[in-house]
Amino acid sequence: MEGKVLKICVDNDPILKIVASEINLEDISSNEIQQLLVDMIVTMKAAPGIGLAAPQVNVSKRIMVFQLPASRDNINGVGTPLTILINPTVTPINDSDRVSDFEGCLSVPGVKGKVLRYNKIEYTGYDEYGKFSSTIAEGWHARLVQHEFDHLNGILYPELMIEEDDLFSTNNENTFLEKWTKSAINKNWELK
Ligand code: NI
Repeated sequence: MEGKVLKICVDNDPILKIVASEINLEDISSNEIQQLLVDMIVTMKAAPGIGLAAPQVNVSKRIMVFQLPASRDNINGVGTPLTILINPTVTPINDSDRVSDFEGCLSVPGVKGKVLRYNKIEYTGYDEYGKFSSTIAEGWHARLVQHEFDHLNGILYPELMIEEDDLFSTNNENTFLEKWTKSAINKNWELK
């Protein structure tokens, strides 16, 4: 099956703000889902990115793909294989064990920001064959899965940032403050 590069939704696109729907397991083998999976992988690699969730390509379904390069693996330096997760769950191993690090997002271009995440999680999901698996992940592997999982719940990482100083422009322009404003109600950041 040949994949194609899909358009990535950015910033205030409404699809990025809604909770995505679960996939019926019997539909995983359908042409529609199999084509979407291939297209998501091609799109992620072309971007280039290390993770992509279906809402980012305008499909509100609970699917994510990721591949952590060895160079980004701060725990054991091996990274992860290309992974497809359908209907994933994420459970922290220890609620109080959290770490801060910089993230970027293909749907929030031009900036990177510091986000507090669980250091170690257990995640589950189904692969492209409908096979269920459960994995313990730590460090950047865990961070990447949490970031993509948030996309399935309509959450973009700047909403999780605590301090204004935690977000930086990647192109030396102050694009963040032009794009985001801090909500007085929940003290989180929201796109203008
Ligand atoms: Ni993202």
